[in-house]
Amino acid sequence: MKTRITELFGIEHPIIQGGMHYVGFAELAAAVSEAGGLGIITGLTQKTPEDLDKEIKKAKALTDKPIGVNLTFLPIVNTPDYPGYIKAIIDNDIKAVETAGNNPVQYLPALKEAGVKIIHKCTAVRHALKAQSIGCDAVSVDGFECGGHPGEDDIPNMILLPRAADELDIPFVSSGGQADARSLVASLAMGAEGMNMGTRFIATKEAPVHQNVKDAIVAASELDTRLVMRPLRNTERVLNNAAVERLLEIEKEKGGDLQFTDIIEQVAGVYPQIMMEGTMDAGAWSCGMVAGLINDIPTCKELIDGIMSEADEIIRGRLEGFLAA
Ligand SMILES: Cc1cc2nc3c(=O)[nH]c(=O)nc-3n(C[C@H](O)[C@H](O)[C@H](O)COP(=O)(O)O)c2cc1C
Repeated sequence: MKTRITELFGIEHPIIQGGMHYVGFAELAAAVSEAGGLGIITGLTQKTPEDLDKEIKKAKALTDKPIGVNLTFLPIVNTPDYPGYIKAIIDNDIKAVETAGNNPVQYLPALKEAGVKIIHKCTAVRHALKAQSIGCDAVSVDGFECGGHPGEDDIPNMILLPRAADELDIPFVSSGGQADARSLVASLAMGAEGMNMGTRFIATKEAPVHQNVKDAIVAASELDTRLVMRPLRNTERVLNNAAVERLLEIEKEKGGDLQFTDIIEQVAGVYPQIMMEGTMDAGAWSCGMVAGLINDIPTCKELIDGIMSEADEIIRGRLEGFLAA
């Protein structure tokens, strides 16, 4: 399949693995890229630019194919050393960066000068247009269904994707709720030129997370996610568990007076315990509604090959079959 996204990133299939905190390590990114998609290392999971440098080198030892790095610009108390991370990206000849969160404009000149292609992930058409206007090469349009931060507008992809198609000139991929060939074909029908998946890629053999995390995703239905931190305007979609129930109780008790410090125990620094140690109730962790569509733990190659061959069947068999001769 050839789209502006496959051309832009030099990849075989229009499938991207979104950056994921404590999931997007070298092993997963390399496996996705080796399978013909675009695997992405999560920059800020690496504590220092030196650690990112090592992680990129580790991934590059596993595949010769293009790999990307995610740089998330969220309101964090201590601003990370973004110039240092960008230097590690450029020094390692990475040509794809997924930005997310706040406007990345101040970091674009350095990246673009080094020939890096930027895909900015955003949850609103107005943000996608802004990304286009500042020179991003593509956007990832993240619907309300998504695992992680869906923003505050609550527009699902059935509306958001065609709206993006109506407004944008640069290519975009769908993100949020994407799991299989049906997702890919539907995204293409709505104007996207590929799809980005997060939660689906956690439940793969190569994702270097605890087996309990993968099992929790397979066991979950589409009814099992919750939105937390809405009162702080930092909404996150997470898998429900005991810590999330406690967090929601605190949100209810505090109402409009809620402060981040009230819920710090449930959200801050919990990822290593969950992803590495498999302590599933340690806190709130991002997970999409798409968990309801995930019933197996394939390799990345099995997943991507399956999506591409089934997409072919859907387009040539099912859809073409509906057309009157
Ligand atoms: C466990 C987890 C951690 C994530 N961490 C990040 C992150 O650090 N930066 C980021 O830009 N997006 C992050 N995301 C969002 C994903 O990159 C992607 O946009 C999202 O998962 C898409 O929705 P889906 O899960 O329905 O596929 C995370 C998602 C999950 C599930």
